[in-house]
Amino acid sequence: MKKLLKILSILLGVLALAIACTAAWINFTDLPTNPVKNLDIQVPTDSISIAHGAKIARTMCAGCHAAESGKWEGKLFLPKSVGMGDIYSGNITHHPTAGLGRYKDGEIAYLMRTGIRQDGQVVGPFMYFPNMSDEDVAAVIAFLHSDAPELEASDVVNTTDYSFMAKALIKFGIFKPLAYDGKPKMTPPATDAVAYGRYLVTARYNCVACHVASFEVHNILEPEKSPGYLAGGNLLTDHATFETVSRNITPHPEQGIGKWTFEQFQQAAVSGIRPDGTALGIAMPRFVLLDSTEVSAIWAYLQTVPALESNVPNRK
Ligand code: HEC
Ligand code: HEC
Repeated sequence: MKKLLKILSILLGVLALAIACTAAWINFTDLPTNPVKNLDIQVPTDSISIAHGAKIARTMCAGCHAAESGKWEGKLFLPKSVGMGDIYSGNITHHPTAGLGRYKDGEIAYLMRTGIRQDGQVVGPFMYFPNMSDEDVAAVIAFLHSDAPELEASDVVNTTDYSFMAKALIKFGIFKPLAYDGKPKMTPPATDAVAYGRYLVTARYNCVACHVASFEVHNILEPEKSPGYLAGGNLLTDHATFETVSRNITPHPEQGIGKWTFEQFQQAAVSGIRPDGTALGIAMPRFVLLDSTEVSAIWAYLQTVPALESNVPNRK
């Protein structure tokens, strides 16, 4: 009996030591880095492309990168209370050291595709645009070089302070960069409304990321394979730490938007007003910059997706 107890206590001691060593490794060693690439891209300089990039960036990047000053110098994007630590978005103004002045164009493109920063670290699971067309990525970068007021150099340096859990998720490879496939990616022609709408929903405006059951089940590289595709249920914590559940935007007649008219959809997606006149929560971005061809194409595409049931509580 005594011998057994002795063996048990040694085993427990070894286990405790192993746990302590793993915890120390997670907490105190450097985060892993990944090889960085400078993709070969042509960034346009004409005013039409810059305006196109402005529309995409002001819709897709401002929400996370614009500080209260209005400048895109980064801000506290996820507070500690969510469990990942204090996560700050980066400074993407023109500043030569604090901002994007230090990035080559191809490195910005590689970060947008894979989530790998110029220093090789991964930007958590927070920003990926793997399916955006090459043309749209180049237009966004063209805008980032422009003299728009939000991009004026700011020397703010914010440092993300990951929690133990976030460090563990990164070190065990659960938060990891996306594989880069190097294949050319085209924007479908706007004349093919359904194909163009699909592209807008799954790539340019990434409606799918929020409108699936959860970020965990979102299949980033092949969005249509995500369980509950566009059927909502994702619990979103916005910057003010309110919680809002995304909605079912499939053509399901009761649970989705199957009985909505185009005008009702346009009002909800663009202005954030529900058919009953109440305002949608701020976790749903206002897509005010979209042109009418884009809104019509999204609507045309949403008619074609499978009508799914969802478990969205308290639907208004
Ligand atoms: C959901 C929020 C979110 C969105 C949307 C977003 N970003 Fe980010 N971005 C982040 C976070 C968080 C970081 C930095 C995390 C870190 O410190 O590693 C970051 C970092 C960056 C960096 C790296 C900065 C550096 O210091 O290395 C660049 C460049 C960038 N984002 C560009 C963009 C562009 C361009 C868009 C729009 C097409 C965009 N981001 C949209 C959250 C976001
Ligand atoms: C950042 C997350 C996010 C993104 C991106 C997003 N949505 Fe939403 N959306 C939400 C949330 C959350 C709600 C529910 C808001 C509420 O009920 O207050 C919502 C609600 C809606 C509604 C209203 C549905 C209803 O039943 O009331 C429509 C329509 C909609 N979204 C369409 C879109 C479209 C189209 C896109 C892409 C162009 C998109 N959303 C992108 C989070 C998002």
